[in-house]
Amino acid sequence: MKPRGAGSVTNARAVPDGVDDFPTPCWATRALVRCVLPTLGLSVEGARVWEPAAGRGIMSLVLEEFGARVFASDVIDYGCTVAGKRVLDAVGSFVGEGPDVTPSRAADWIVTNPPFRLAADFFERGISEAPLVALLLRSNWAEGVDRYERIFSKHPPLAIAQFVERVPMVRGRWDPDATTATAYAWFVWLRGASVGTRMLWIPPGQRQALTYPDDRRRFAVEPEPDML
Ligand SMILES: C[S@@+](CC[C@H](N)C(=O)[O-])C[C@H]1O[C@@H](n2cnc3c(N)ncnc32)[C@H](O)[C@@H]1O
Repeated sequence: MKPRGAGSVTNARAVPDGVDDFPTPCWATRALVRCVLPTLGLSVEGARVWEPAAGRGIMSLVLEEFGARVFASDVIDYGCTVAGKRVLDAVGSFVGEGPDVTPSRAADWIVTNPPFRLAADFFERGISEAPLVALLLRSNWAEGVDRYERIFSKHPPLAIAQFVERVPMVRGRWDPDATTATAYAWFVWLRGASVGTRMLWIPPGQRQALTYPDDRRRFAVEPEPDML
């Protein structure tokens, strides 16, 4: 992958097959902070946020824009740096793939978009690590008998915030011009909350409004020819 500009997240490592390497469009994380959390009376400003599937660091860097104190880890070391500083604070599994990573400090929040196949495990470890958890997941994660019995019947989310627009994610890079047929939502939990789940909608226009002119230079990278 070739970084687009001097301020880009740079990365040079080969990524093994089988990990869900789908960098997150910046605007989707900004939508959580701008459109969802204020409605719930919540914020990440000044909070200790652990992003445990940080990948190339896009979500963690966006959370820092809002004053979050982010601890970023991933099972894969993508070798990314920003202005010479490594994006990841630690390399290790959050769940199930070798020794678990442990953070250097307690967390107020777990915020991430985990691999789909490990999302329930991520939730369970997440809510044991922090009182607040926000996971960006496919909307159809809300269905399924097994998940209902394992997660939703015991831990109803505080809110499910459905993106009205699609959130395209492309393997190995953020492509600002990509499209997708998959629907996504933010699932937000407060440990022990029993107030019922609020259904919210992230309104249209956020993809444009929350994608900033500098994002392409910072985060978009050109694929190597063999990835096209
Ligand atoms: C959808 S991507 C997350 C993208 C990232 N949040 C961002 O801002 O671009 C999922 C990430 O989960 C990581 N992953 C896969 N299995 C994992 C595990 N057991 N523990 C921690 N991270 C894992 C992958 O390496 C990948 O970076």
